[in-house]
Amino acid sequence: MDICIAGLDKTFDNRDRVIFKDLTATFRTGKTSVLLGKSGVGKSSLLNLVAGIDTPDRGRIQIGDTVVSDMDDAGRTLFRRRHIGFVFQSFNLIPVLTVLENVGLVGQLDGRPDRDIKEKAAFLLETVGLADRLLDFPDRLSGGEQQRVALARALINDPEIILADEPTGNLDGKTGTAVLELITDQAKRLHKTLVMVTHSPDALAWADEVFTVENYALVPGNGI
Ligand SMILES: Nc1ncnc2c1ncn2[C@@H]1O[C@H](COP(=O)(O)OP(=O)(O)OP(=O)(O)O)[C@@H](O)[C@H]1O
Ligand SMILES: [Mg+2]
Repeated sequence: MDICIAGLDKTFDNRDRVIFKDLTATFRTGKTSVLLGKSGVGKSSLLNLVAGIDTPDRGRIQIGDTVVSDMDDAGRTLFRRRHIGFVFQSFNLIPVLTVLENVGLVGQLDGRPDRDIKEKAAFLLETVGLADRLLDFPDRLSGGEQQRVALARALINDPEIILADEPTGNLDGKTGTAVLELITDQAKRLHKTLVMVTHSPDALAWADEVFTVENYALVPGNGI
């Protein structure tokens, strides 16, 4: 499913802080789109808007045939659960749930059988190299390990859209490369739409399209 954004305005703090002005962009199915830009420029905010976690002041966000920006809170939540996997910059793992339960939670909310979810969650955790940590709680894990749990969680419902906010920010070079391979493979082989925020020049090697957030909009290229 393509993500099409048109005429997007977004402000914070009672419109005092302008983040986006008339932003237009398309992120294509099967492609890895990388978002660059200085800290505080609005990269995470843009992913939140696409995911329907936040709403624009004005403008249209369409994912596949669905105009997400026309939906109410409940509609966006349901749409996100079914179609979007989000790897948060700050992980957002639930401290009282085990690694396995964290990964399975969104699958459970979607009403899938427990056994299916457990199997899929264990498989995904094995893929990110955490097969021996299933029953640990998140606070026992390093930052990079938590990041890999967050990635596994984002993939549990086999989403058509993957939004990843600096997914390799806490990983060493080798683990980072493995995670980038895993995540970009989803776009290529499984024909998903991947939008990835990164500061890592290495990640550009995996990009099909590169955009930079600047001047309240999204411009093609790496901003140089
Ligand atoms: N809920 C909010 N209320 C008020 N201001 C906010 C809110 N969320 C974000 N901002 C502001 O919007 C701007 C963009 O934030 P955002 O987190 O999108 O930046 P970013 O490009 O992801 O930065 P970084 O690279 O540091 O993660 C920042 O100035 C931030 O303080
Ligand atoms: Mg951010």
